[in-house]
Amino acid sequence: MAAPPRPELFDFHGVPMINIFTDDWDNIQNFKARPDDILIATYPKAGTTWVSYILDLLYFSDMGPDRQTTIPIHERVPFLEFCVPPIPSGTDLAEQLPTTPRLIKTHLPVQFVPKSFWEQDCRIIYVARNAKDNAVSYFHFDRMNSLQPEPGDWSTFLQEFMEGNRAFGSWYDHVNGWWEKKQTYSNLLYMFYEDLIEDSGQEIERLCSFLGLSPSAEEKERVRVSVTFDNMKQNNMTNYSTIPLLNQTVSPFMRKGKVGDWKNHFTVLQNEQFDEDYEHKMKNPALKFRFEI
Ligand code: A3P
Repeated sequence: MAAPPRPELFDFHGVPMINIFTDDWDNIQNFKARPDDILIATYPKAGTTWVSYILDLLYFSDMGPDRQTTIPIHERVPFLEFCVPPIPSGTDLAEQLPTTPRLIKTHLPVQFVPKSFWEQDCRIIYVARNAKDNAVSYFHFDRMNSLQPEPGDWSTFLQEFMEGNRAFGSWYDHVNGWWEKKQTYSNLLYMFYEDLIEDSGQEIERLCSFLGLSPSAEEKERVRVSVTFDNMKQNNMTNYSTIPLLNQTVSPFMRKGKVGDWKNHFTVLQNEQFDEDYEHKMKNPALKFRFEI
């Protein structure tokens, strides 16, 4: 079967988007969040699946083995703005979730989040990843996912990433917008992919304390082991092998899972240009990323 044509980016209220994330806009904006909903928000490729699975295990690992072997993570944690009929939309899946709390994922920039999440004072976990590794991961994802705009070659992609011209817009605006929100909205935990890589056990502790959970040491250790890169890569419920649209022979969804893979992609010149541009865009000294650990 011929691959569907790649979508084009268009300006959506000032943010480059593709139609599969805007077609359901009325339902997204009118989505009725409940006070115990937990929203996992990220720029694409910052570790969304990782944190989704950690939360799923923290809340639901005692629900019997069937859940762990038959329900893929993208059904347990619906993607709010996703709309590709006849696949059920993110809003439909979220509304049908039988479990409480509902775990919901989004890549929306902060200004697009449905207002009910703020009104209901929902807990929100934002995960950010350093721009260079985030760009590399996004590039490979766009190569393997024909629902995304054509990535072009690496240098074309990198230029567009720096210009903020990929789906969900500018990485710089995204991480800064959510960081600013954190200053006024107390139910927001801002996490970093690099911290998770460095010490996932400690970050699981932080998550538990934010969520008011107190699992036993054994339970926490079980979660930590289940969510290692190798285990999630082997696990068909977390490696996205159930989605035929993703061409994992081009690039696996669970690709490398490292900090610093950007060094295998950036030329010296690209790195210099990136750093110079980065300095102009990332003015807030409080928001610091680690490009290596
Ligand atoms: P790479 O492409 O750099 O390997 P998202 O879930 O937001 O789409 O992010 C996907 C990225 O997170 C991929 O990065 C993937 O390998 C990485 N990732 C997912 N689970 C991980 C884990 N358990 N440990 C480390 N990285 C993980």
